This record gives sequence, structure tokens and C-alpha cells, in this order.
Amino acid sequence: MTGQQPGIPGLLGLHASYIAGQMGTWRSGTRHALAPDCMRSIAVKLTDKDITAVSTWLARQPRPADPRPAQASAQRLPLACGSQPQ
Ligand code: HEM
Repeated sequence: MTGQQPGIPGLLGLHASYIAGQMGTWRSGTRHALAPDCMRSIAVKLTDKDITAVSTWLARQPRPADPRPAQASAQRLPLACGSQPQ
């Protein structure tokens, strides 16, 4: 959850309201990432309750001692993300 190079940002240390807000902007179409926009695909599948739950949970996780993102990996993502080309 500290992200992965080059394009997946870390999610630890973010406020729940920021995370939920970003999910809302993807759902409403005001935030776009490079196509294919995997975060939009994820956000539109989540209910308001899901977003509250995941945002609250993420914001409660401790910050790791080493906050650096993981190295780029050859492992395939579960869905294609234009911001993280493979
Ligand atoms: C419920 C699960 C997930 C949540 C709550 C979530 C949340 C977020 C949030 C809040 C951001 C924006 C961070 C910021 O503005 O600093 C983000 C960005 C991103 N996430 Fe997710 N994420 C989820 C799953 C995934 C998965 C499974 C992938 C990969 C397959 C992914 C790939 C990305 C990428 C590539 C970005 C950067 C998009 C851009 O270029 O703007 N996320 N995610």
C-alpha cells in the first residue's frame, strides 16, 4: 500500500476524506487518469458504503517504517491501468 513504481501512488498517510473524495471524482468523471482508467473502473463498482469503509480502513493503517513505493514488477495487474503500463 505504499504504491508501486512508476505509476501507482501509495495510499498510506492519506486522510479518509481525501481518499473518499478522489473516489467520488472518478465516479463523477471529474478526475481522469490515462486510459484505460482502472481507478474509474474500480470506483464505479463501489457503493457509497464501500467507499466509506475502504477509505476509513486505509486511513487507519499505520505508516510503514519505509514509505517508499515497491519497485516496478513483471506481475500482471488485475486490470489494465494506463498510468502503470505493462
Ligand atoms: C478499492 C481499492 C482501491 C482504492 C480505494 C484505491 C484508491 C486510490 C486513490 C485514492 C488514488 C489516488 C491517490 C492520490 O490522489 O494520491 C489511486 C490512484 C491509483 N490507483 Fe487505486 N485504489 C484501489 C485499487 C487499485 C488497483 C487494484 C489498482 C491497479 C490495478 C489501482 C491503480 C491505481 C493507479 C494506477 C492510480 C494512479 C492514477 C492516476 O494516474 O491518477 N488502484 N487509487
